[in-house]
Parts: sequence; C-alpha cells; structure tokens
Amino acid sequence: MFDQELLDKYISGGLTDVFGWGLDTGLAQVFSHIDEFQRNKGITGPLVEIGVQDGRVLILLALLAREGERAIGIDIFENQGENLDFSGGNTSVERVLSNIKLHAPNSDVELIKSNSFRIPRSDLDKLENFRIMHVDGGHYLEVVMNDLEIAQRTIGAGGVIVMDDFWHSGFPEVQEAVHKYFFTSPIIRAAPFMVGRNKLFLASHEIRSDLKAYIFERMPANMQKQVRVLGYDAFTIDPQW
Ligand SMILES: C[S@@+](CC[C@H](N)C(=O)[O-])C[C@H]1O[C@@H](n2cnc3c(N)ncnc32)[C@H](O)[C@@H]1O
Repeated sequence: MFDQELLDKYISGGLTDVFGWGLDTGLAQVFSHIDEFQRNKGITGPLVEIGVQDGRVLILLALLAREGERAIGIDIFENQGENLDFSGGNTSVERVLSNIKLHAPNSDVELIKSNSFRIPRSDLDKLENFRIMHVDGGHYLEVVMNDLEIAQRTIGAGGVIVMDDFWHSGFPEVQEAVHKYFFTSPIIRAAPFMVGRNKLFLASHEIRSDLKAYIFERMPANMQKQVRVLGYDAFTIDPQW
C-alpha cells in the first residue's frame, strides 16, 4: 500500500541505513520525478531491479509502487560463486527482507533468486511491461548485455531503464556493453534521454522527449547541460560548475 510518509522518510535519509551504492537523496528525487511523470500519464507496471544487494534501490521502487503494482528484485543473493566479477555481494534474501520490513513494511515486493542469465520463463513473464527497471547486477560485458536485452524486451510503453555504473571507471564494461548493444541490436525500445550521477537513463520512445522536458524543467540550472548520447538528444544531471 502506498504511503507518502514512509516514502518521504526513506528519501530524506532512511535510505542511508541500507547498505548499497546506487542511490542517495538527490538520485531518489530524480526517480520520484520519473514516477510523477508516469503517474500523471497513467503509466503503470512492475518496478524492477536486477542486482539488489541489500535493497537500497529496490526499497525505493517498492515505496513508489501504487495499488496493483509490485516491486520485483532479481539477484543471485547467497549464490555468490556465480558473481563472476565480484560486483557487490555478501548479501542474503533474509537481509533484504528485513530491510524491506523496516522501511517499506506494507509494500508488495517479490524477490527472485536467480542468475540473470537464467531467469525462469515464468519469472521473466512477471517483468513484462515494467515501468521502471534499475539494472545493476553483474558488471562485465556479457551479463550487462544480457540484462539490457531483458530490459529492452520487457519494457512497457512509457517505461524507463536506468543503467547503473555507466560512468564508473572501475566497471568499464558497463559502458562497452551499452554501446555494443546499441550498435548491434535490432530491438531498441528505449533510448537515452538523461545521463549523470554514474547512470544512463533510457526511456521508451512513446515518452522519451516529454519525459526529458519534464525532468529538465525540474533540475537546477547547473544540471541542465544538453548533450548527445548514442545519437540521441539528452542532458546531464551532473553539476557543470
Ligand atoms: C553492485 S551490487 C547491486 C547494488 C544495489 N543495486 C545498490 O544500488 O545498492 C550487484 C548485485 O548484483 C548481484 N549479481 C551479480 N551477478 C549477478 C547475476 N549474474 N545475476 C543476478 N545478480 C547478480 C550481486 O549479488 C549483487 O547483489
């Protein structure tokens, strides 16, 4: 059940109680703008994360979910032998569940314990027509391409994909994978509209230009530099002075 008070509490500081990397208060506000835009347009669907760690981002997605929507987190969790590039790790289903209980007790959340290379068909079906997916699982070329392909295939009209660590020099294969995907894949259902804060944001074609304008207007002047990414007009939310 949606709870504005719990959401505000999490965004304004609660999120720092959950170990993780992909979210701070500023980024959570950016996710909230995406959420507001989608709700104004009546866009609904699951909110998904590949690569959950202890749940820092997944809990925000759970708190943003409205009536009839579910947050879904996919991770190998305890099977860290399958974490080939040691991205994150040392997590457990139990720890994520206890963080959810603490910060998003009334939310509808499903955890799928699976390697993203081998998500069972019945679980993949649950991602269909998602409205937000945060991709932050394994960080080597093949797995990022796999995860981006899943995202591009299952995104709904009006959906958004957020690729984490796109600008992280410790994970150069994330950027390589996105470039390779865009240069080789015939299926491009979502394209860049915003970059920065270590992430690349892709929106489905139906909303790309309107969503870009919506968020652009809400950012301070020093976070509005126009750029082109993979041939698409975008802007950066990294401060420019
Ligand atoms: C960088 S951490 C995620 C951080 C989290 N999103 C956050 O922002 O705090 C990467 C996660 O991906 C998981 N992982 C690594 N390889 C995976 C794979 N092939 N399939 C599913 N999960 C994977 C790891 O277990 C780890 O929890």
